[in-house]
Amino acid sequence: MILPQESRTYISNDIEICRIINGMWQISGAHGPINMEKALEAMGDFTDNGFITWDLADHYGPAEDFVKYFRKLRRKEHQEPNLRFFTKWVPNPQPISKEIVRKAIDLSRRRMDMNVLDMVQFHWWDYQDKNYINAIEYLEELREEGIILSLGLTNFDSLHVEELCEMGIKIITNQVQYSIIDRRPEKFMTQVCQKYGIKLFAYGTLCGGLLSEKYLGKSEPYRSDLNTASLNKYKNMINRWGNWDLFQELLSTLNHIAKKYGVSISNIAVRYILENPIIAGAIIGVRLGVSEHLVENSKVFNFSLERSDLDEIEKVSSKANNLLEIIGDCGDEYR
Ligand SMILES: NC(=O)c1ccc[n+]([C@@H]2O[C@H](COP(=O)([O-])OP(=O)(O)OC[C@H]3O[C@@H](n4cnc5c(N)ncnc54)[C@H](OP(=O)(O)O)[C@@H]3O)[C@@H](O)[C@H]2O)c1
Repeated sequence: MILPQESRTYISNDIEICRIINGMWQISGAHGPINMEKALEAMGDFTDNGFITWDLADHYGPAEDFVKYFRKLRRKEHQEPNLRFFTKWVPNPQPISKEIVRKAIDLSRRRMDMNVLDMVQFHWWDYQDKNYINAIEYLEELREEGIILSLGLTNFDSLHVEELCEMGIKIITNQVQYSIIDRRPEKFMTQVCQKYGIKLFAYGTLCGGLLSEKYLGKSEPYRSDLNTASLNKYKNMINRWGNWDLFQELLSTLNHIAKKYGVSISNIAVRYILENPIIAGAIIGVRLGVSEHLVENSKVFNFSLERSDLDEIEKVSSKANNLLEIIGDCGDEYR
């Protein structure tokens, strides 16, 4: 195992996670083809090296099914007791009955072959449609019934996280976009999370791979050069944040800091997010069986950033647009 003990944290009394969470959107089909055999082998590599926490969703192509196949393979060998699979439920806005919620959760349980789901993260597209209240109340009932171990949210803004917490729903995490480019969670979300004892899972931390040496000193890529849905998503975000010249300035600053610690630009980008105590984990997308950054990403736990590093980053960030003003609070890009 290459990860040290510091890579672990608890998000509740009984759930320990790795602070780098393996993101499975990258096997959904929107990021190139995936070979199942190679993907399952890669899941073994990640797990054996201490990357024991997985993020997925009901709509990430075969992700939930891969969990079942992987767990079946693993039963023959030793089982990692803290292996966790956090799925999502992303329903269309509609009237929500308990039957609808149970059906969706049962489907995930069947696909993943798990009696008890480790976590269900709930997404809602439209706050005007108040059915999210019914949905979360029914999810909470299923949690109390024991078929869901823990409840999380994804892309909820601070106002609605607060609303659900005030209702007494036991939410332990919210999953939001958070990177050196998109620092919206640092404003209202952090305060709400502190108030209610909620942790955040951050995605987009590497901007799909744009925050790496691969793009340092390179001219602005054309759309056709960006071969994953993730790269396209975050290139749009960079356009709203500033422009390619400013992004190059940021990469060069991160590169300067990276050299100081003998690590990579990506390591600095992830470390920056993990330094925020409200962040339980950074979800890093894994193109299972296609590309692997396992050893490199383990280096995130070998160093900490100093005040002067944060100041250097701030100097560039302060020239960028305020995404909170342009887009709104966390998750508003989906609404
Ligand atoms: N809740 C939501 O709405 C939501 C939205 C988006 C994502 N997510 C979650 O977050 C996960 C992360 O996805 P993301 O789209 O945000 O992508 P990301 O984690 O920002 O980027 C992932 C990509 O970064 C590259 N990478 C990883 N480690 C690297 C390293 N050390 N050096 C250089 N490049 C490296 C890899 O590219 P290559 O494969 O090309 O090497 C990888 O595919 C998803 O799988 C999903 O679980 C959730």
